[in-house]
Amino acid sequence: MSSSAAPDPTRPDTARFKAGLEDVVAGTSSICLVDGVEGKLLYRGYDIVDLAEKSSFAETAFLLWYGRLPQKAEFEQFLKDFRGSIELPEQTSMILRLFPRHATPMEVLRTAVSSLGHYDPDSGNTSQEAALRKASRLTTRVGSIIAASERLRQGLEPIKPIPGRSIAYNFLYALTGTDPDPLVERIFDICLILHADHELNASTFAARVTAATMSDMYSSVTSAIGTLKGPLHGGANEQVMKMLLEIGDPAKAQAWVENALKNKVKIPGFGHRVYRTEDPRATVLRKYAEQLGKHTGNLKWYEMSRVVEQAMGDWAQREGKKIYPNVDFYSASVYHCMNIPTSLFTPIFAMSRITGWTAHILEQWANNRLIRPRAEYTGPKGLKYTAINER
Ligand SMILES: CC(C)(COP(=O)(O)OP(=O)(O)OC[C@H]1O[C@@H](n2cnc3c(N)ncnc32)[C@H](O)[C@@H]1OP(=O)(O)O)[C@@H](O)C(=O)NCCC(=O)NCCS
Repeated sequence: MSSSAAPDPTRPDTARFKAGLEDVVAGTSSICLVDGVEGKLLYRGYDIVDLAEKSSFAETAFLLWYGRLPQKAEFEQFLKDFRGSIELPEQTSMILRLFPRHATPMEVLRTAVSSLGHYDPDSGNTSQEAALRKASRLTTRVGSIIAASERLRQGLEPIKPIPGRSIAYNFLYALTGTDPDPLVERIFDICLILHADHELNASTFAARVTAATMSDMYSSVTSAIGTLKGPLHGGANEQVMKMLLEIGDPAKAQAWVENALKNKVKIPGFGHRVYRTEDPRATVLRKYAEQLGKHTGNLKWYEMSRVVEQAMGDWAQREGKKIYPNVDFYSASVYHCMNIPTSLFTPIFAMSRITGWTAHILEQWANNRLIRPRAEYTGPKGLKYTAINER
């Protein structure tokens, strides 16, 4: 047999393989641009800095799903439908009472969101209009699930949301039963805008992989929630707060960070697969962390974060590494100043990112092809089977 046999077309192209699929382009999308060099993030062409300043989470959801900003009249109708479906189906409310006390909020969210699929009147309808309705219902209900299950965890009765109010208002209201401070509500809404989408991050990729099998929207979002839960992804904001609480005092922050880095500990809230400069979401959140700290008379967490950032910056410069704060770093002190329990930080990420997940699911279905990559086989070959008694 000649040694110059034609290459096997079914063999994976291992030359382009990179661990963690780093820099591998796995599809096209017109939803979100992450510019890791310039430190820019665009949703449907709009800079998130502009959206954070001028838009609302509801309008951002519209933008992600429909690909453009709404006209006034259509937005009013959209808001009516969007905010009107915030109440949970009775059965999902009942399911929330059955979880064991040790179930984490992300585990509860994963199962409760999955249950919503059973009670959605559009569950069997595969049209694009029905998919948009499901995306809208899912988005409004995630916050209701998180707030209700937190109340139950604290031994309190859930509070019914007020249809017609914003998602941010209702989430903060349903947690405590009191009207949120308008500045707190606005900054929370901005946090939801900033977390709404981020191209093919791990959870969005998981959602698209599931959607590409022509599975349903609830299954796709459930896959995404399971993926977001990990500490290398959405779980990092909780780890940031745990770190700040452990440090306890801005005066101790520098030594704490230096010691952690000496012991090769990764500092949560820093580093990113794509950004080689500051994550633009961190830039926006830093400003609001300071504003909120001043407003609530609790600047300690912001000040401590600044010291951690400075210590990380000095270390990264010495080591020649491009590591900067990411979205999770300042969102931690922002949520903490809002009196939100740390265990809800990652679920809040899901409450926002669900708009991106569902936009990507819609985009996947608009031009679907099964996502099925290859693996480079590194195991043995040609082993001979021996019967169990002879091994
Ligand atoms: C986000 C993250 C998972 C990206 O991972 P990645 O692209 O695979 O990059 P790596 O983990 O390989 O990091 C590259 C180098 O930077 C270092 N590094 C990256 N993030 C770091 C951090 N937060 N603290 C200290 N060192 C860090 C790594 O140790 C590695 O150094 P080495 O080349 O000497 O081994 C990683 O930066 C991380 O774990 N950050 C902390 C968790 C976090 O904040 N996640 C939220 C992301 S939005």
